[in-house]
Amino acid sequence: MVENSINRFIFILAALSISFGSFGQRTTTNFNQDWKFYFGDDSAAREINYDDGQWRKLNLPHDWSIEGTFSKDYPTTANQGALPAGIGWYRKTFKLPAASKGKRISIEFDGVYRNSEVWINGHYLGKRPNGYISFRYELTPFLKFGAYNNVIAVKVDNSAQPSSRWYTGSGIYRNVRLITTNGIALDDRYVFIHTNNISEKQASIRFQTRFIDQFRADRDIEIVFEIWDPRGKLVTTSNKPWSTIVLPHPKLWSPDTPLLYRGIAKLKRDKKVIDQYEVTFGIRYFNFDSEKGFFLNGESLKIRGVCMHHDLGALGAAVNKRAIQRQLEILKAMGCNAIRTAHNPPAPELLDLCDEMGFLVMDEAFDMWKKRKNRFDYNVDFNEWHKQDLEDMIKRDRNHPSIIMWSIGNEIREQFDSTGKTIAKELVDIVKSLDTTRPVTSALTENNPEKNFIYQSHALDVLGFNYKLFDYPELPKRFPGEKLIASETASALATRGHYDFPSDSNRIWPPDSKPFTTGNADHTVSAYDHVYAYWGATHEDSWNAVKKYDFIAGTFVWSGFDFLGEPVPYQWPSRSSYYGIVDLAGFPKDVYYMYQSEWTNKPVLHIFPHWTWAPGDVVDVWAYYNNADEVELFLNGKSLGKKRKQGDSLHVMWRVPFQPGTLKAVSTKNGKPVLTSEIKTAGQPAKIKLIADRKLINANGEDLSFVTVQILDANNNLVPYADNLVKFSLTGEGFIAGVDNGNPTSMESFKASERKSFNGLCLAIIQSTMKKGKIHLAANSTGLQSDNLIIESK
Ligand code: GAL
Repeated sequence: MVENSINRFIFILAALSISFGSFGQRTTTNFNQDWKFYFGDDSAAREINYDDGQWRKLNLPHDWSIEGTFSKDYPTTANQGALPAGIGWYRKTFKLPAASKGKRISIEFDGVYRNSEVWINGHYLGKRPNGYISFRYELTPFLKFGAYNNVIAVKVDNSAQPSSRWYTGSGIYRNVRLITTNGIALDDRYVFIHTNNISEKQASIRFQTRFIDQFRADRDIEIVFEIWDPRGKLVTTSNKPWSTIVLPHPKLWSPDTPLLYRGIAKLKRDKKVIDQYEVTFGIRYFNFDSEKGFFLNGESLKIRGVCMHHDLGALGAAVNKRAIQRQLEILKAMGCNAIRTAHNPPAPELLDLCDEMGFLVMDEAFDMWKKRKNRFDYNVDFNEWHKQDLEDMIKRDRNHPSIIMWSIGNEIREQFDSTGKTIAKELVDIVKSLDTTRPVTSALTENNPEKNFIYQSHALDVLGFNYKLFDYPELPKRFPGEKLIASETASALATRGHYDFPSDSNRIWPPDSKPFTTGNADHTVSAYDHVYAYWGATHEDSWNAVKKYDFIAGTFVWSGFDFLGEPVPYQWPSRSSYYGIVDLAGFPKDVYYMYQSEWTNKPVLHIFPHWTWAPGDVVDVWAYYNNADEVELFLNGKSLGKKRKQGDSLHVMWRVPFQPGTLKAVSTKNGKPVLTSEIKTAGQPAKIKLIADRKLINANGEDLSFVTVQILDANNNLVPYADNLVKFSLTGEGFIAGVDNGNPTSMESFKASERKSFNGLCLAIIQSTMKKGKIHLAANSTGLQSDNLIIESK
């Protein structure tokens, strides 16, 4: 973050806590509303008197790429979603009350993709090349108060392409806020709570902070810390710097019990509180063991994680907390307990949610160092910016109990040459200078120790290995005494709802590094777990390998959700990935239930595919199940036999000549039924059914209701091939923020008010305005019975 010339006094103090506030001394104001945007370049726009009257009005977060039309001709290519990048300008005109004169006022950006430059009232504040990093500028000396206007101008330059291996989005795509404090204030970027010596009986808590003193005051300054327990009770107050607070019987944080404490720091001058800063934190302890894997709060816990890119499907990169929360809810229900932020610092909202909902996090800094993966990626900025960027990431994120390790990079090219040693050491030193409470890792691909120079730095605390699961048994011998995690697994591929036979032979797509020219003409990929890229493996094989070896602390599956870009095995007109366990619209693919059957204790029985085939088809029917000995399958009441999982297999399969009717599976334990699942042959599409994930949302201009659209036949069966065009109309206090159907080749706009269904489903994302009221959503399609629903925005 940009330093200013204000003197800092460093205090490391005993107590704890962190951030936010509106206590008369510090205000943190949402600064997302009423911006002006111009897609193009005009250097005069930095000037205060520039006429932006013709510019588009919008609220942040904003991603201009997702609004674009798809084209194979953009320099971003399908790898970045086949959407436009380029240059854009933002301006915001605002007034400040006269009472704010004399305050310190800063603007904070959570992330601008990319190469942002910021001016206030024509004064240049600085640039920030990294598109994923949070940064802040102090505005104080340049501001005007009372009746006078202030103008913030931001240039965003994402024109140098290609710059990424996946979709990045473009613009001020994360939140922006204004922070106002007194001249003497806590420096929240240096607030750090250390929790040590933790057991069921007690935890030691040490609070570290600085304060900023504009006036070099040598007055009576005091910092008081309060700790509030998860039930909202004040448990400790301390004003003794340097001492450690011992908290008896702490409530430990874990994915199953994400209990959060609050710490409040109060800065007092002449006995009066002049600043107050609050932070949530958690108390937990963990360790990695080279033989036994990961332990949390003294108990062995396999890390059951997924890798997630930052885009939110139809919303693009534009951050929305509810959209992230929905992704996490879907993953939590699958039994997932960890997220890897592939391959960059995430939005702070993701980390808040992981703290609250109970996910472990591998927080990752970089996808490349000096050696590029694409011509204009971060390699061009690494030399000048890596120290600042890495420091800022650690400072921003180090109070989150969810984060259990820092990753200094993914599949970094320097692992193959000696420069890897020096850079790895330097990066680990930077991390450790700010946080010694968490291990540092890197996701490696070279598992020959003699050829891996990042490993040879001996700076990593945990070695992450991507893929190559056949080498797992060798790793402890090759890397004796090292702690190991499968930092990336699977890279298996599927299109939701599409099935190719036979299901019991694998397809390696692509089979090698040459351009892939075979595959399916319509760019589908079969959703039996039998297709994967040549560096990957099926989900079943990947999970079995991780499960088998205690010394592998856990896994991060590539990937939790489909994401925009990287449409392996295809290229244009595919423009989003096939890797997800869940598709881009948030609809689970079948393999979701394999993980659920393995990663949760709740009873699972999932049979697939659908049961709407042509006469003469011979169909492989799979079942994922748990909590049962076997599954019996019936077609039109006739038993097709009982099956139980054999060897390492995590599913059972029947090969069934198709007959229309009802396919029914019953799982049994000790002969008693556990679950029953039924699918029927569907007729022609007859009606639309709308299902809102939430019918009550907040009228805060941000909240969302995700409405699933099902195409049903006359008997209410989902029609598995339905591709009907669904037109939405909305009235009331909301708007359609995006539409999708999970089809990686759809060229329809994510911002339209209509969408073709894909394999029977599509999605409309409804966003609230700031006004309370009812939102009426209707969905129509030619020849189908329409449906509508009401969402209440309060
Ligand atoms: C990995 C890489 C990921 C993604 C994945 C696709 O090697 O780390 O970012 O590209 O492959 O299979």
